[in-house]
Amino acid sequence: MKKRSQPRVQELAREYSAGLPEPLFRTVMGAAWLGKAEDLLPRIPDESVNLIFTSPPYALHFKKEYGNADQHRYVEWLLGYARHLRRLLREDGSLVINIGGSWQPGNPVRSLCHFEILLELVRQHGFHLAQEFYWYNPAKLPAPAEWVTVRRIRVKDAVECLWWMSKTPRPKADNRRILAPYSADMKRLLKRGYRAKERPSGHRITHKFTEQEGSIPPNLLTLGNNDSNGYYLRRCSEAGLKPHPARFPVQLPEHFIKFLTDDNDVVLDPFAGSCTTGQAAERLRRRWLCFETRSAYLEGAKFRFETGGLHEPVTDNSQANGTERRRGPRQAELRL
Ligand SMILES: C[S@@+](CC[C@H](N)C(=O)[O-])C[C@H]1O[C@@H](n2cnc3c(N)ncnc32)[C@H](O)[C@@H]1O
Repeated sequence: MKKRSQPRVQELAREYSAGLPEPLFRTVMGAAWLGKAEDLLPRIPDESVNLIFTSPPYALHFKKEYGNADQHRYVEWLLGYARHLRRLLREDGSLVINIGGSWQPGNPVRSLCHFEILLELVRQHGFHLAQEFYWYNPAKLPAPAEWVTVRRIRVKDAVECLWWMSKTPRPKADNRRILAPYSADMKRLLKRGYRAKERPSGHRITHKFTEQEGSIPPNLLTLGNNDSNGYYLRRCSEAGLKPHPARFPVQLPEHFIKFLTDDNDVVLDPFAGSCTTGQAAERLRRRWLCFETRSAYLEGAKFRFETGGLHEPVTDNSQANGTERRRGPRQAELRL
């Protein structure tokens, strides 16, 4: 592993954020800006970001406290950012958008917004769909109540999409960094040895089928979002701050950061909320930038970069545990 000195990291950080105003806070690896993505994105240099990982406000027909564009204007609103997202991404970079599905107001019928966004990003803005991922959250509550728990005519919607897009057909990626532990069955099979043959599906399993360092994970990520005892929530409660109402689990950005970036690469989340993406990047020693319009969310986000937040053990039922060792800083490194 390459050794880096802290001054070198800070020098690099200054380089990529030179056009931006003073951030609200900085850490060793990154910084968070209070402001609108539409004002800050144009100030990032061309081709300077390796991975954009974000979860924009969803097209819910009811408004969350931080406001959603109406469903019919949502696609147009989100696509308004596409030109800059593409411009500031490096040629081998990736854009991963986590976007939940939604329902048409008053009807048990799904909105097509999240599919329209994908299609338009590809057709109008020249992105390639590298692969689609799905995040299955077993802890999701049954909703909308009217269709799921009252009339019982729909089932619980427990999956969110992650569209992994890229500027070129071959963005930087390495699945060896996100290998998952083998199942007991697989370990038995590997121990006994596998007889080369053609499977009923027509796939040929050859004699080259041997043990690797772990199993290649699928594009379905099973992650609960129930960190009720987590450090961030504890610190928000102690400080009397309301936690962000729509956080994703830190394992979600971690999975993609490991998969799609190297040490010191730059990760951007333009709709950062409580800076979960920044926390994942900091833990993995990637540089990061987070933009968020609400100061209260960024006040709470600071807790993620205290020692307790950076070293919190992962207790989730993640299938997304990579083999890359977590290398968090040794002490509290939040500098305001
Ligand atoms: C779904 S939340 C992101 C939550 C985040 N992934 C987390 O784990 O905390 C979307 C965030 O985008 C913010 N937002 C909405 N419009 C924005 C804009 N124009 N620029 C920057 N942030 C914006 C909202 O305040 C909200 O916190």
